[in-house]
Amino acid sequence: MAYFFHHQDDSIDKKEALEVIFSKAVLSLKRNERDFLKNNDREYQLFLHRVEKYLPDLISVYFEIYQSCIFAYPFLIELLTLMIRSWIERDRSLKQIDLQREISSDWLTSNQIIGGVCYVDLFAKDLKGLEEQIPYFKELGLTYIHLMPLFLTNEGDNDGGYAISSYRDINPKLGTIENLRELAKKFRENDILLVIDFVFNHTSDEHIWAKKARKNNARYKRYYWIYEDRKIPDQYERTLREIFPDEHPGAFTWKKEMESWVWTTFHSYQWDLNYQNPEVFVRMADEMLFLANLGVDILRLDAVAFIWKQKGTNCENLPQAYKLVEAFNLIARIAAPALQFKSEAIVHPDEVIRYISKKRCQLSYNPLLMALLWESLATREVKLLAYSMEKRFTIPDGTVWVNYIRCHDDIGWTFSDEDASALGINGYDHRKFLNQFYTGKFPGSFARGYPFQENPATGDCRISGTLASLAGLEKAILENDSIEEEHATDRILLLFSIIMTIGGIPLIYLGDEVGSLNNYNFLKDEQKKNDSRWIHRFPYNADLYAKRHDLNSPAGKIWSGIQQLIQLRKKYDVFQTPNINIINSGNQHVLAFTKENSKHRVLVLANFSEHEQLVESLIFTKSGNIKNWTNIMNHEPQEAGMIFMKSYQFFCFLADLQEH
Ligand code: GLC
Ligand code: GLC
Repeated sequence: MAYFFHHQDDSIDKKEALEVIFSKAVLSLKRNERDFLKNNDREYQLFLHRVEKYLPDLISVYFEIYQSCIFAYPFLIELLTLMIRSWIERDRSLKQIDLQREISSDWLTSNQIIGGVCYVDLFAKDLKGLEEQIPYFKELGLTYIHLMPLFLTNEGDNDGGYAISSYRDINPKLGTIENLRELAKKFRENDILLVIDFVFNHTSDEHIWAKKARKNNARYKRYYWIYEDRKIPDQYERTLREIFPDEHPGAFTWKKEMESWVWTTFHSYQWDLNYQNPEVFVRMADEMLFLANLGVDILRLDAVAFIWKQKGTNCENLPQAYKLVEAFNLIARIAAPALQFKSEAIVHPDEVIRYISKKRCQLSYNPLLMALLWESLATREVKLLAYSMEKRFTIPDGTVWVNYIRCHDDIGWTFSDEDASALGINGYDHRKFLNQFYTGKFPGSFARGYPFQENPATGDCRISGTLASLAGLEKAILENDSIEEEHATDRILLLFSIIMTIGGIPLIYLGDEVGSLNNYNFLKDEQKKNDSRWIHRFPYNADLYAKRHDLNSPAGKIWSGIQQLIQLRKKYDVFQTPNINIINSGNQHVLAFTKENSKHRVLVLANFSEHEQLVESLIFTKSGNIKNWTNIMNHEPQEAGMIFMKSYQFFCFLADLQEH
């Protein structure tokens, strides 16, 4: 096993140590596995290249995390063994994709990628049903599908599947692991990326590890955070934020059968894993590689901000959390390099950004853009949106934002108070206003949302509701107000126009593209009524989908508007450039930005008000003094004069830079 580590700056000792470690892992393989390595030498050489490239980093990150743990070394060998084993078991077709993605640096930032997300049961009953939706995904133009958690979970309340009892078994109501493998294959044949969650901050209390811990098994108790009295929980809770205060105060839940307190950041049946124990890290790496080998392209790292805990901190976004993500990423680079990570850190923008890099998560939700789009709709002003995007939109090369308007979760007002205050806005008061506005309490509000996890102690509150109901469609239909109905569909399309043109991957919460309204049935369901997020987790509405080609219906207007935007985005690769240049439109209601590549420059204008607006002709000078602009929605030339904008109108002008 010699000669694998010849990094120039590595000392002879270090090289030797790495070789010893790696050989130990190979020796722990079963005989047939070692035979595989012998019989597939060419493939194995490619694998060894990656080992050589990434293992030194993996080992150093690992020891940075686990330096003080005496078990660190044996678990490292176990980790390497399972990585090799997982690579051996990886399907040939996936290994092909591994190679392609290693060579291509920009496949992930392509303007051809358009995302959709759905619950399998709500959207299509089960995995087989979902497969039958592939023609629909193609009709709309989707090439990236995120399936909400589909693994075995608690009966009854299970946080929409985010309480996982086995990462290797599909919820029987949805199908089997073989169905998922088959679906991944079908997706590949149709150029659709498969995205699923890696719920790695916690397991359900019915996971076999938790069951063993509940039976007082000392080894498995170390997988979680379990204490017999309040002494340590109290010490931690002094500095923690409450995440689900409606459900239980603090972060710990009393488990009577064990006479113990268990750390449960979210629901009391979701037990936080203890990553200070290297065994937990290794076990979860194994689960991750299992998911990768099913043919999953992207893993959404659920609740990533919470995975490391330390007394005296808020236990969110700690340095070791980033290190753990790096370690998981290095494992993927070696054993399943096609796999990418998407960060779900719905936190302060300064923290969101830290998860994004090729070494950590290549993709990230963009909660700031999401929240500020809603903020601009409520205020009819774009200053906070423009200021924040100018300052914070740029992320490292090769990484990509996932831009969304709604998802299965609540809207949290995660803008930066410092940004707000630079514009004379008081963050606390502004959030209060936004909550009032989107729950429909603010006079004149068009929105019909529900509060989520209102915390009277801190004044904190988030918002639930569907895109259409928050944008005014529900109210307009109820009040039979055709002008408001038009405003509502225009608002919806305005938000979509931004996420389709700004760069990054646009992600549609499926059902929003046909204007689904709030679903109030959850109020009748004992298990759901206290979690208002169920208001926007609605079943597939066949009537709305049937109307998608009827341009007289809101569903048809929204659907065809979105489809047109998708086609435009796919047509011009200028939309895949990561940069944006925010421009002062000279009108407080109008957002303006340009993007360009070597061929084209686009100028985007978006009116966030229901009133007509004028934009000064100076906008064209500010956009680079180009004369030949074309409106890409109708292909008409646009004169470089003053621009008249209708309520909620969106313009996208294109200039051919090669003509200039
Ligand atoms: C994530 C999910 C959310 C869930 C939580 C706990 O934030 O998006 O739905 O409640 O994690 O798993
Ligand atoms: C995520 C977010 C939090 C959200 C929760 C449940 O962990 O950080 O803001 O409310 O999920 O939706």
